[in-house]
Amino acid sequence: MYEVKEGKLVLKYGIIKQGLIAVASGKGGVGKSTVTVNLALALQQLGHQVGIIDADIHGFSIPRIIGLKDKPMVYNEKEIVPPAEKGIKVMSIGSFVQEADPVIWRAPLLMGVLQQFMEDVHWEELDYLLLDLPPGTGDMALNIMQRLPHTQMLVVTTPQITATQVAGRIAKVAEKLDAELLGVIENMSFYQCPHCAQREYIFGQGGGKKLAAQLKTELLGELPLLPAIREGGDAGNPLVLSLPDSEATAVYLDIAGKIRGRVKEFDSAIKPIVLKEEPEK
Ligand SMILES: Nc1ncnc2c1ncn2[C@@H]1O[C@H](COP(=O)(O)OP(=O)(O)O)[C@@H](O)[C@H]1O
Ligand SMILES: [Mg+2]
Ligand SMILES: [Zn+2]
Repeated sequence: MYEVKEGKLVLKYGIIKQGLIAVASGKGGVGKSTVTVNLALALQQLGHQVGIIDADIHGFSIPRIIGLKDKPMVYNEKEIVPPAEKGIKVMSIGSFVQEADPVIWRAPLLMGVLQQFMEDVHWEELDYLLLDLPPGTGDMALNIMQRLPHTQMLVVTTPQITATQVAGRIAKVAEKLDAELLGVIENMSFYQCPHCAQREYIFGQGGGKKLAAQLKTELLGELPLLPAIREGGDAGNPLVLSLPDSEATAVYLDIAGKIRGRVKEFDSAIKPIVLKEEPEK
């Protein structure tokens, strides 16, 4: 699928120089996909080339959030040129089906698609490839991580999700796969009144911090609950670009800087698993 050379992931049609980062969450609806897109744009603002793989096959939403207009181009039967939106290269199942269509993927087929996204896509030069995982810590997320043992994991949570609910399972996934934990991002941490700037902790306080402590990692940042984030997500106009001078964008840039400082060099002693069986057609 790829090989590690001089601390970089060398793909068939590309190279990942800094990090392959899986964005995970204990459950759906915490803003994982929104965070993935805005973080990609924040890393780009810091001068990096970034790609996103939307691996949330049932709930793919990256194309809508980033406002993806173009389709991938396929040639020679197999080679794929990924569309880019706002400078971010994106591969999503959403490019191949309509958002309203139910997608019923059996695991082997899904794995085949993801392998194809790594193998057959002309990513060219990337610093970071972000992977929006399916929500939860079930088999699907585990399977994906297993195939890509060089991923480092970023966990998105909200304050009200009790750390103990998800920490154990995430820690187990990370441990089982020997995946590096980059840290925790708390989303929807508070609502800031636009009139008096007072912060309301609608979903309580401290969930992200607790989760980070239990996972023995760092809380990388706390993002506000902001109508503009939801509106931007619906309209394909992400916050980091629509409100570049906002406090929330500053938090994203800060998180991006921390991630840049925390990613570990790819380890050539670890070998990626390659699917042998033909994916079901
Ligand atoms: N910080 C935020 N403030 C306001 N709305 C948000 C925020 N983060 C996410 N949302 C909204 O919450 C909903 C779920 O976000 P999404 O990124 O799709 O979650 P997930 O990928 O975890 O299922 C979307 O409507 C999104 O626009
Ligand atoms: Mg999502
Ligand atoms: Zn107020």
